[in-house]
Amino acid sequence: MDRKKVTIPHLHAKKQRGEPITMITAYDYPGALAVDEAGVDLTLVGDSLGMVVLGYESTVPVTMEEMLMHCAAVKRGTQYAHIVGDMPFLSYQIDVKEAVRNAGRFLKESGADSVKLEGGTEMAATVKAIVAAGIPVMGHIGLTPQSVSKLGGYRVQGKTHSAARKLLEDALALQAAGAYAIVLETTPERVSEFVSKQLSIPTIGIGAGVGCDGQVLVFHDLLGYFDRFSPRHNKRYANLRPIIVEAVKQYVQEVSTRAFPTADNSFTIDDAEFEAFASEASDIAQSRRLSVPLSNEREREREKER
Ligand code: KIV
Repeated sequence: MDRKKVTIPHLHAKKQRGEPITMITAYDYPGALAVDEAGVDLTLVGDSLGMVVLGYESTVPVTMEEMLMHCAAVKRGTQYAHIVGDMPFLSYQIDVKEAVRNAGRFLKESGADSVKLEGGTEMAATVKAIVAAGIPVMGHIGLTPQSVSKLGGYRVQGKTHSAARKLLEDALALQAAGAYAIVLETTPERVSEFVSKQLSIPTIGIGAGVGCDGQVLVFHDLLGYFDRFSPRHNKRYANLRPIIVEAVKQYVQEVSTRAFPTADNSFTIDDAEFEAFASEASDIAQSRRLSVPLSNEREREREKER
């Protein structure tokens, strides 16, 4: 089939047809090439990169510069997927003007197609201003990792009737502000499905059940590439980390025993060229061997004179 670049109308049409939307994170060029080839609709350059790529304890320390650099690498590896740049903590909360400027940087400097930011009703005015500047916005509600400290940990959100109602109000506020899609993170599946049905824009779930209009997972979680923790919402489709460790162990062992490199990994020189080089080189080496003691001798003489 003739593949085309994924657009927002294409995502909205998928929701209308009841066809699930696929999203996955990617943070670098080879990752982007792989997920694009696999056929995802959206590639999210998530601020989860702070934890799975940069080794931070949470997503809070991630900076605009880090996001833009990784987003630009993903752009270079993407032909078809719609690229979402995740706005890092404090890049959009301080004031609306700064939020619009930073959202614009994702499009201008890193080639993202849209941005994502966390928060519901309280972010509606910001979303509206960014959209008014011509920048598509994806919302993110439920468990919002940038506010993990305020939420008291990575807990399921929307578990009481009032929390579920707040979730619906937040989703409707984001939709009214012009968001083109909303991530629902770690919310009860019945609530997610209910909210999804109330919206004309798609929901993309992570730990939010099968009733969302689409699903997203973190690249490293799905591939078993990073195993410091495995969230319940994740499904590992591969277990890469032990494969990587095993391969590197084998390399270490083969280098230590000179089993690597072999002739297959090495390059040749013509016999005649090598013999000419070897005879010139032995002359050079010999003259250097003679000159080293001489120069040392001179140094010693000079030392004595001082
Ligand atoms: O940063 C991220 O990877 C995300 C997803 C978990 C939705 O925001």
